[in-house]
Amino acid sequence: MMGTAQKKHHMHIARPTATPDALIARVCALIDAGRCGAASPLLAAARQVSAPSSELNLLAARLAEGLGDDAAARAELDRAIDLAPQHAGLRKQRAALWQRLGDADRAARDAAEAVVIAPADADAKALLGSAMLTLGRPREAVACLAEAAQARPNDAALREALAIATEANGDPATAFAILCAGLTVAGGPLNLRNAATLFCIRHGDFAQAVTLAEQGRAAGTVDACLFGLKGHAQSSLGLHDEAAESYAEAFKLGPDDPYVRHLVAASGLLPGATRAPPEYLRAVFDGYADRFDAHLISLGYQIPGAIRRIVMEYLTLTAGTYTGPILDLGCGTGLVGVALSDLPIGRMTGIDVSGRMLAMAARKGLYEQLIEADVLNWLQADTTGWGAILAADVLCYFGDLAPLLGLIRQRLRQGGWFVFSVEEAPPGASTPDPGWRLQRQGRYVHAMPYIVSAASAAGLSVRSIRRQTLRHEGGTPVAGMLAVLELPA
Ligand SMILES: C[S@@+](CC[C@H](N)C(=O)[O-])C[C@H]1O[C@@H](n2cnc3c(N)ncnc32)[C@H](O)[C@@H]1O
Repeated sequence: MMGTAQKKHHMHIARPTATPDALIARVCALIDAGRCGAASPLLAAARQVSAPSSELNLLAARLAEGLGDDAAARAELDRAIDLAPQHAGLRKQRAALWQRLGDADRAARDAAEAVVIAPADADAKALLGSAMLTLGRPREAVACLAEAAQARPNDAALREALAIATEANGDPATAFAILCAGLTVAGGPLNLRNAATLFCIRHGDFAQAVTLAEQGRAAGTVDACLFGLKGHAQSSLGLHDEAAESYAEAFKLGPDDPYVRHLVAASGLLPGATRAPPEYLRAVFDGYADRFDAHLISLGYQIPGAIRRIVMEYLTLTAGTYTGPILDLGCGTGLVGVALSDLPIGRMTGIDVSGRMLAMAARKGLYEQLIEADVLNWLQADTTGWGAILAADVLCYFGDLAPLLGLIRQRLRQGGWFVFSVEEAPPGASTPDPGWRLQRQGRYVHAMPYIVSAASAAGLSVRSIRRQTLRHEGGTPVAGMLAVLELPA
């Protein structure tokens, strides 16, 4: 006898009225269209009337991924590849899954198998190239991606990936030429134009960035991100009125886009933004990760060294007692880890919202744990009692410090220190009211009295606040402060 639940399940399986091939084609079309819920019963029906095959396994894996069930997709692919190890499609699907799950090693192995099985397959080469790039092997990445792009010159995503790999391989001029060449193909796809404009901004060529954005506008492109980037470039050129107009256009087109909202807030058009959105930070720092260390060194970045001196003071005071574990908020590429690497501080954990910054930190091998998360979200769920919490050049992405300081208070051990830097308003600028202000380039400045009152409101005592040059920009020192707060015993 069939139970009620079984009957129901049975009744929901679509009755196959089409041929197996037609059913499979329909499932494929539905998955391609992102309609995985609708594809599910049809795939079940197709499996009833067709002999088991690699094609069906592949569809089942794609469907599981589409439904957000990575474990099921992986199990399906593992089984299928055991049965058909020479199937390039299965290998490619599993390579893409590994890559998405952050296991570039396994992604590279599957993609390499797929290339051996199907040497003319551009997708297999593209997957291998992406995995190589993630593994920090840009030369091999360029070789694979160049072959794939040659086979598919109109594929904008592939071209962008090749440009990224070429830049990572130390050849920014060729990378830029690759992006620009794509702009002339088939009307210049939007993503490539945005990538080329962002490339110019990252390399400090703001005038060229404005030109590229204007050419896009003249060719009929109307896009929030492109207007946002144009505003960013104009603001960097000191053209603040023009930047405000571009931001206003961007905001009209993409009022909910967090990247656009933050830039608009920075231009003063959207007052009251109390922090930079994590999506904005991820976009900015993912794009900056490859050049971050070299760039910061060239700017004379001083915070990691200054934090080292404070941690040494802390070690002296707590001599003979356990000082760790230490948490590095917004650890980025791990420059603070480098500065502290020879001190007896025990375990260090780094958190950052940018996966690509963390990948750079991981290569240094100095952190016991690296966690990709927004610091506010993460601290809310954390239960560790930290001996010290550090934040170098991170609080400039928060205006109102009360939520963060409240969480720090809960997470510090008694006697533990919170050591952080903030930026100050440039000399001659008015004092920010209510103690902090978002500047046009997207970072917040804070005033010293505000730090003192926010610390006290959070129940933390101020051990010290020192004025400190943070770095140099355009030859001018960027003024800031280094603060040490303590959770009183
Ligand atoms: C200017 S970098 C500084 C990196 C590192 N602390 C150093 O001194 O080299 C700022 C870093 O903070 C991270 N960040 C900013 N706000 C964050 C947030 N709310 N949650 C997690 N990471 C954040 C950024 O992704 C970026 O890597």
